[in-house]
Amino acid sequence: MNVYDSKRIIDTLTKSEFEQIDNSKNADILIFYTCNIREKAAQKLYSNIGFLKTKKTKVIAVGGCVAQAEKDLIFNHKGINISFGPQTYHRLPEHINDILKGKKDKILDLEFDQDKKFSSLPKRKNISYSEFVTIQEGCDNFCTYCVVPYTRGREYSRPVKDIITEIKELLAIGAKEITLIGQNVNSYHGEAPYITIGNSRNTWRIERLIQEIAELDGLKRLRYTTSHPKDFTTELMEVHANTPVLVPFVHIPVQSGDNRILKLMNRGHTAQEYLDKLSKFRDICPNIQFSSDFIVGFPTETDEEFENTVKLVQEAKYTISYSFKYSRRKNTPADRMIGQIPEDIKEKRLDILQKTLLKDQICFNRSLLGKTQEILFDRIGRKEKQYIGKNVFLQSVVVESDENLIGQFRNVKIDSAGDNSVKGRIV
Ligand code: 5AD
Ligand code: SF4
Repeated sequence: MNVYDSKRIIDTLTKSEFEQIDNSKNADILIFYTCNIREKAAQKLYSNIGFLKTKKTKVIAVGGCVAQAEKDLIFNHKGINISFGPQTYHRLPEHINDILKGKKDKILDLEFDQDKKFSSLPKRKNISYSEFVTIQEGCDNFCTYCVVPYTRGREYSRPVKDIITEIKELLAIGAKEITLIGQNVNSYHGEAPYITIGNSRNTWRIERLIQEIAELDGLKRLRYTTSHPKDFTTELMEVHANTPVLVPFVHIPVQSGDNRILKLMNRGHTAQEYLDKLSKFRDICPNIQFSSDFIVGFPTETDEEFENTVKLVQEAKYTISYSFKYSRRKNTPADRMIGQIPEDIKEKRLDILQKTLLKDQICFNRSLLGKTQEILFDRIGRKEKQYIGKNVFLQSVVVESDENLIGQFRNVKIDSAGDNSVKGRIV
């Protein structure tokens, strides 16, 4: 979502009198857009400011979740002029001008008004072949370890009409793959584009939204992320079975495989309920693959409880997953819990979990050997003539080609599989 927000900030500023330049050394204005989900986010920000600031710098603006969480503490760091939250970046041109003209010295803008933000953003430009589109922002789940409900705000769903307009604009200027993003896309409930009989709330859920988007001309691939297991419906699994552009790959974070820890995390489901959803999904869509997020060393987690996470991984069989050491976040319930786990234990558990996850990842990569897959190429490789693209499972696939493949879909036969990427040749 920070990639999406950053692009929208660039669109907003370049629509005003500002220009984006390649080298920050020559910049008058430096904008830092930040994430606060884990670890020393504020320290990282301050050291990056120190590293990038030059004599030429006239304005330093800090935005995103660190700004929202730190509030006016940000200004204790000398040189920062603007602190803006994730819901106020549409006002950045005005704020920068106020600083440049000397009208103000410091500006703090942390309001939560998603509606106003989205309706103020200009048309999209500078896009790539694969683009994100925010459909939903914020979260009402209040998992006890997580800062998102406090930094991104409460759940907001964009109206269907606005999402469709943005995607049509992207497809018209060359996008081929769209990823619908939000902190919890499965609880999407955006204003419907027209009134339907029997729909008294007059909102659409993600199932209906996906079906509408899938019909748009020029769209080759559709993804969405992130899903909360408790909001994942059988109907959405059926939409997967009936919608060819929707990729057979879903990120459904489980965080832990232990029921007591899941309860302490306030996740709203048990390990078995989660596994049952995966197996139902596999029944409905035999080619579906999953990825997940994990947190190890949540307060009070015992060795046996951690082992339950390893057992869940062995049963779930993910293609790829992301795992993290629990990180204490200010003002969250888990930060106040007694029984914080020492760093060395967290590290050991992370190592065990990552080795277990890697085994499945390698196994999945190998299962592709000899198969032909459609790849969307979006990067050049390190070696000459090398191009890198993604298959539907978000795996990086490397090929060699004399022809420029950027932006192209090509069928590729996979002939070697490493731990993190696979190689093939165009057929
Ligand atoms: N500590 C560690 N990991 C966290 N995540 C969210 N909050 C924390 C935290 N306090 C992880 C979760 C989530 C992913 C985006 O980041 O696994 O799914
Ligand atoms: Fe954070 Fe995701 Fe839980 Fe929301 S559902 S509180 S974003 S971990």
